[in-house]
Amino acid sequence: MTTRDFLFLLGSSRTGGNTETLARLAAEQLPAGTGQRWLDLRDLPLPDFEDRRHADGRPPTLTGNSATLLEATLTATDVVIASPLYWYSVSTSTKRYLDHWSGWLEAPGADFRRRMAGKTLWGVTALADDDPAVAEPLAGTLRNSARYLGMRWGGVLLGNGSRPGDVLTDTEAAARAKVFFS
Ligand SMILES: Cc1cc2nc3c(=O)[nH]c(=O)nc-3n(C[C@H](O)[C@H](O)[C@H](O)COP(=O)(O)O)c2cc1C
Repeated sequence: MTTRDFLFLLGSSRTGGNTETLARLAAEQLPAGTGQRWLDLRDLPLPDFEDRRHADGRPPTLTGNSATLLEATLTATDVVIASPLYWYSVSTSTKRYLDHWSGWLEAPGADFRRRMAGKTLWGVTALADDDPAVAEPLAGTLRNSARYLGMRWGGVLLGNGSRPGDVLTDTEAAARAKVFFS
């Protein structure tokens, strides 16, 4: 029997937001025995990403929060990006985390590309807009990133809300959350 380990990466810039609420609703339905690790990207700030791919050949430094996030990413079978919709795409902390994937691809010994392949990438997002189509840039970012790394694409769970807690009144989102990971 294969055990799955879900890594939930929270990318909101506030606590108790709609995105986390929606992600937790979905996670409640995970089968018993499924691993869950929740990391808030605000607790693990990453430095500005520097693209050194074609520069001096120095490998990226894998210390501190970068090392923590790399280890968490590589040990998960399923990576869930829980980012609010900010300007139609992912939040800054989420985007920075994704930019660091580019450095991790170059990190000696990390074997990032091979180890990411076969994992599943999921997205969870809350947005204030009534039209879910406006979240397509976020969905496309995640979907194409999954494809680039040979990951399976699980899809995006969308919920509507502006103030924290609003998403709980989006009954359609709650229904989608119940079956999202199944
Ligand atoms: C910087 C910023 C940008 C936002 N951009 C959008 C947007 O492009 N489209 C939208 O529908 N809502 C947008 N919103 C509203 C948030 O998506 C909404 O309040 C959401 O519930 C926030 O998620 P959270 O509660 O998990 O923090 C934005 C909010 C902020 C603070």
